[in-house]
Amino acid sequence: MYRTNTCGELRISNVGTSVTLAGWVQRVRKMGGMTFIDLRDRYGITQIVFNNEVDAALCDMANSLGREFVITVTGEVAERSNKNKNIPTGDIEIIATALSVLNKSDIPPFTIEDNTDGGDELRMQYRYLDLRRATVRKNLELRHKIGFELRRFLNENNFLEIETPILIKSTPEGARDFVVPSRMNPGEFYALPQSPQLFKQLLMVSGFDRYFQIAKCFRDEDLRADRQPEFTQIDCEMSFVEQEDILQLFEAMMKHIFKYVKNIDFTEQFPRMTWADAMKFYGSDKPDIRFDMKFVEIKDLTAGKNFSVFDDADYVGAICAKGCANYTRKQIDVLTEFVKRPQVGAKGLVWLKIEDDGAIKSSVGKFFSEDELKVWADRCNAVAGDLILILAGETMKTRKALCELRLEMGERLGFRNPSVYAPLWVIDFPLFEWDDETQRFYAMHHPFTSPNPDDIKYLETDPGRVRATAYDMVVNGVELGGGSIRIHNSELQDLMFKLLGFTKEKAQEQFGFLMNAFKYGAPPHGGLAFGFDRVVSILAELDSIRDVIAFPKNNSGRDVMNEAPAPIDDSQLEELCLKVELPLSK
Ligand code: AMO
Repeated sequence: MYRTNTCGELRISNVGTSVTLAGWVQRVRKMGGMTFIDLRDRYGITQIVFNNEVDAALCDMANSLGREFVITVTGEVAERSNKNKNIPTGDIEIIATALSVLNKSDIPPFTIEDNTDGGDELRMQYRYLDLRRATVRKNLELRHKIGFELRRFLNENNFLEIETPILIKSTPEGARDFVVPSRMNPGEFYALPQSPQLFKQLLMVSGFDRYFQIAKCFRDEDLRADRQPEFTQIDCEMSFVEQEDILQLFEAMMKHIFKYVKNIDFTEQFPRMTWADAMKFYGSDKPDIRFDMKFVEIKDLTAGKNFSVFDDADYVGAICAKGCANYTRKQIDVLTEFVKRPQVGAKGLVWLKIEDDGAIKSSVGKFFSEDELKVWADRCNAVAGDLILILAGETMKTRKALCELRLEMGERLGFRNPSVYAPLWVIDFPLFEWDDETQRFYAMHHPFTSPNPDDIKYLETDPGRVRATAYDMVVNGVELGGGSIRIHNSELQDLMFKLLGFTKEKAQEQFGFLMNAFKYGAPPHGGLAFGFDRVVSILAELDSIRDVIAFPKNNSGRDVMNEAPAPIDDSQLEELCLKVELPLSK
């Protein structure tokens, strides 16, 4: 028998019993005639003691063990004289009487402890070793716990878990598809699903009524801290529902998870904000409402004073940083550099301070009188001690930059505490997004999203003003999930495709199977999908979803552990009738 107990379970009540443990050697410490080993497994760490005077040969063997050797040890549980309050097994130790080495280990490339000396890239390369660290393992344990509870919740609410295919037809949904060549059908390709969207709609046509799936999705898009090329959705769809039914059910699901994991009770309904307000007051469709600092528009107050930065701008917006009038010139210079970064994109930063005595100082004091500046300050509800930060330019770009500045100020002021949660539904998204480059409309969510019934009349005359029946759940500025009520009528779907620039033939070629299915009695339906990785990382209070994925990719989409992607053999290419021609720069 390799073990009678785990390394995390023995307590003072076990003193006197004989046990066998198995695990990895975390540390060997020699002190005088005694040798101490920290033995680790998934459940914890237990101290093992070897006494040279009692059994010199056994002690020598213990001294020869290296880090990460796999061993099994037999001995008696004893009370520790020098107790370790930091670990649950810290009151006891095992006085070893037998030891056997099950496997040796090379010296690991970094220390496998909570505070490791390994850098990110090295830990990714040896991810299987990184996963031995308790901090990383705990994230995966939490992921398991949340996944299990979500399944239980959905099962209790009559959802059926149904798997959908991974090799599908390429039907672009927004991002680029990953494609897979078919050997049996030379020259033809499958795509990996960006989401199970069309299949779950077909399952509604099939009458399944309530579907869910914890589904792997694949998107070939630029990566960020909260984006991976393959990620997991908690994907759901329901029949005979309106938007309100969906918001209520999934709000209840998230409340349940918050209670279950964090013991947080959300007794009130989650706030709801229209997309238009989110953009106007926060410059983002996923506002972080843990703090206020809403945008205040002041363009009308700034005109005609020969300050061309404001005069030439479509938009002048301000935020008020409470209590920050004591910011030094140097601190403001840092903020100015911040807004000028290409990722933020502003040209410069205008500021205004209300000093403790009420006097107003501003970087544009030459152009505007103190009385004029006072009016700006009043509109921003600023009082003595406050700092107002102002950006100007093209409306959407400036709002985006002001959003970044607001988040930066929120961070500096300690408003973005990861253990405080501010959930929000963003609703009434526009149905279409105009793209200047290609001079056409795109579906903001996807082409199957139903227009708001009140706006259907504008579909052909003024598509830009049509609102969608679409919603996102946002928590702490992160889009956790999103969905919509779907079009279930093939004439309306035909019109959508037309407005999105699909010819009849192209729509038939790409979505013919869905259009056909809709001819056979499609029920009204709708749904949503949560990003499972994001849900777990928010609850684990982490910034990056990588930390909650067992084997994630890096920012270039590479798995540095198994070195994917990689070229394939010529024989494989030949079988697939493929030829690779790299651009010259490669
Ligand atoms: P959407 O594209 O909004 O909707 O995706 C749903 C949720 O999936 C998560 N997500 C991601 N997580 C990690 N890495 C990515 N690259 C990534 N992309 C998206 C987000 C997002 O809110 N079929 C629709 C859902 C529906 O309408 O029912 C869809 O996929 O948390």
